[in-house]
Amino acid sequence: MDASEARELFEAQSHLYKHIFNFVSSMSLKCAVRLGIPDIINNHGEPITLHELVTALQLDPAKTGYVYRLMRLMVHSGFFATKQVCRNQQEEEAYDLTPSSRLLLKDKVPTLLPFVMAMLDPALATPWQYLGNWFRGNELTPFETAHGMGLWEYGDRNPEFNSLFNEAMASDSGMMNLVIKDCKPIFEGLSSLVDVGGGTGKVARILCEAFPHLKCTVLELPHVVADLQDSANLKFIAGDMFMAIPPADAVLLKLTLHALSDEECLKVLKKCREALPGNGEGKVIIIDIVINKEKDESQLAEAKLCFDMLMMVVVTGRERSEKEWEKLFLEAGFSKYKLTPIFGLRSLIEVYP
Ligand SMILES: C[S@@+](CC[C@H](N)C(=O)[O-])C[C@H]1O[C@@H](n2cnc3c(N)ncnc32)[C@H](O)[C@@H]1O
Repeated sequence: MDASEARELFEAQSHLYKHIFNFVSSMSLKCAVRLGIPDIINNHGEPITLHELVTALQLDPAKTGYVYRLMRLMVHSGFFATKQVCRNQQEEEAYDLTPSSRLLLKDKVPTLLPFVMAMLDPALATPWQYLGNWFRGNELTPFETAHGMGLWEYGDRNPEFNSLFNEAMASDSGMMNLVIKDCKPIFEGLSSLVDVGGGTGKVARILCEAFPHLKCTVLELPHVVADLQDSANLKFIAGDMFMAIPPADAVLLKLTLHALSDEECLKVLKKCREALPGNGEGKVIIIDIVINKEKDESQLAEAKLCFDMLMMVVVTGRERSEKEWEKLFLEAGFSKYKLTPIFGLRSLIEVYP
């Protein structure tokens, strides 16, 4: 073997090891979040040195070297930045937030902290160990192989996980605050909207605030909305989207359809059509991932493909290309759609009867 062949194999080894150890990055991030490091840096008001960080964490100084190593990986991955600061008349390295860790602050809006904690919770991380077995077995999902029941039933039976998951979804939905002002033409003119699989009503609340004349209803599984209070223009209905969807000018589905198989999507989309006013009036509004192999840059494409695998592992769903979405809309009896890619990873699709 010549030198260039050997070099190629060593590069392949690094590539392989990077991917084998991708979970190290996720679990280290979870640890940094659980320790509250983003909030500590934020509350410090300026970049924080290693010594100051260990003190703020109230850790034994003997752990300083370990904190350094955790932060070194986190800095490498872009979750924190380093800056030079002056302490005791000496230059020292200090940690600062980056846009990614600014999204992990506990009490800021938007925050994705609950999303980190739920997606890396053992309940959702364990099914990945069963993916191989599942390919050869008969269960609907690897989640079912691991837990003996589907995700929604698991949420119903485990209140702590139910809260964790619902908070995660609400935190993801909080990102909608960033673009709601750009969505005016989409929601203006509607007098009623039903958010199907709308979780604990985060999107509905954002919409009610931005469009005070809009009456919103959230249709959800009973265990998700059991303790939620209705307000003047927001109502919660415990039900099953496969059975019936309350009538409204518009039906919203945010990340509800990507958790469903094509067959399930068709059933729900047909129920959505029945819920619209008739005479070609009204629309379905979908906020979900659209895979675009040609246009998406590498990081976005990878995040979407990871979501697709997640939908395979924890539920019966999948991520879809525009062509695949269009096929579903036409099969469900809709006539046309309009796609607006405004939510980063997600697009907004208006679907017309
Ligand atoms: C991926 S989550 C999306 C939550 C919310 N739309 C959001 O983006 O924050 C899917 C939601 O669908 C709800 N769901 C699942 N099956 C349902 C059913 N048969 N009827 C009503 N809601 C259902 C789940 O409880 C869950 O909250």
